[in-house]
Amino acid sequence: MEKFVIEGGYPLKGEVTISGAKNAAVAIIPAAVLSDGVCRIENLPNISDVATMIKILYELGANVKYINKTTVEIDCKGIKTHVVPYSMTKSTRASSYFMGAMLGRFKKALVAPSGGCDFGVRPIDQHTKGFEALGAKVEVGGMVDIKADELIGSSVYMDHVSVGATINIMLAAVKAKGLTVIENAAKEPHIVDLANFLNSMGADIRGTGTDVIKIYGVEHLGSTTYSIIPDQIEAGTYMVAAAAAGGDVLVKNIIPKHMESITAKLEEAGVEVEEYDDSIRIKRTAPLSKCNVKTMPHPGFPTDMQPQMVTLLSIAQGTSIVNESVWDNRFRYVEQLTRMGAQISVDGKVAVIEGVDKLKAAPVQAVDLRAGAAMIIAGLVAEGTTEIESIDYIDRGYEDVVGKFTALGAHIKRVTIHGKVQPSVG
Ligand code: EPU
Repeated sequence: MEKFVIEGGYPLKGEVTISGAKNAAVAIIPAAVLSDGVCRIENLPNISDVATMIKILYELGANVKYINKTTVEIDCKGIKTHVVPYSMTKSTRASSYFMGAMLGRFKKALVAPSGGCDFGVRPIDQHTKGFEALGAKVEVGGMVDIKADELIGSSVYMDHVSVGATINIMLAAVKAKGLTVIENAAKEPHIVDLANFLNSMGADIRGTGTDVIKIYGVEHLGSTTYSIIPDQIEAGTYMVAAAAAGGDVLVKNIIPKHMESITAKLEEAGVEVEEYDDSIRIKRTAPLSKCNVKTMPHPGFPTDMQPQMVTLLSIAQGTSIVNESVWDNRFRYVEQLTRMGAQISVDGKVAVIEGVDKLKAAPVQAVDLRAGAAMIIAGLVAEGTTEIESIDYIDRGYEDVVGKFTALGAHIKRVTIHGKVQPSVG
């Protein structure tokens, strides 16, 4: 078992290069199940969630060849089963994409419930509504059992904007007969990236990035070479870290358009942001000021940046209000921040943050992936040496976090905790 040890108080300076997007990668990898050819996927982030998804494909019978750390070739012709057991699904939420992928390929799927970060109830009613609209029968018990004689395109209106359900319906519909229309679809950059990946194999998906997606079913998907987009949330995390710790950082290999909601809030908090073609420079010389944030589906402020932003606002002058409108229970980490001196009160889905002059080091836990990123930011700005445990959560979504922060001048180490056994995630 390992922990991060961070000596706070050093401003961040220099350049950081952003890796491929986790949430695009974990959708694109299971989408390879739908291909009759070989999928060469480039710019994969080197993180444990990606390794887990690739391992699932391998265990299901795919031929997987790593070309280098960020490129893999996947041939799924050898997959003969539509069953994905709990031993494969327990450690990542994205394993639920095998429902759509298996259904799209075999017209049936038997998939165990997924693990992943705990933000309260994580329903799948919108996923199943989509499968049923395509003509499948769905039974949700110990396993999710989905069967169809034929998948036939149809119109699906999503009652709740859901990234996962939008992706699953796209995967199931891409080889269905006729036209499927998803209304009130999610618009996140990784939805667009998945569609571009599927289209590069011969699919006909239009309208992603808007809330109406049209999927014209095709019979076959072939080989492709595809490069994943940069990670919006990893980029945002480094932007907020630079703003919180102070300093001057160039965040490279990003799509600035994806960063607009984060950029806007950082500027409101008094941070200087300069935008270039594929990079953003963050500079902070003055004190931070309060601002209010409400998380929303894209293009709103991403829920996956909420813990990092709350951490920044905990040292901003004045009182900020943060409203979490996506998840019911995403403030569990606040208890850890208050141990470091932050003054935050939470009532349901609203946090009120009274800015303090400084945070003080304390032993803390990463209670989930983005909460872990927030603890790193807290450690960078705190007085003293902060120790963060349960960092396997952070490794699920951030590539080489120690190397990247160290290159920016942070004092951060990964240290083995002797005598402790790694708990299983999920
Ligand atoms: N929801 C329903 N019914 C459904 C599905 C979702 O009511 O059938 C609700 C959820 O309870 C939640 C909201 O809709 O309140 C949004 O859930 P969504 O389905 O969009 O979330 P997800 O697909 O499970 C993905 C990301 C999360 C990110 C959310 C929201 C992946 C693998 N995960 O989850 O990312 O928080 O979208 O943007 O893409 C992370 O990267 O740290 C992470 C947790």
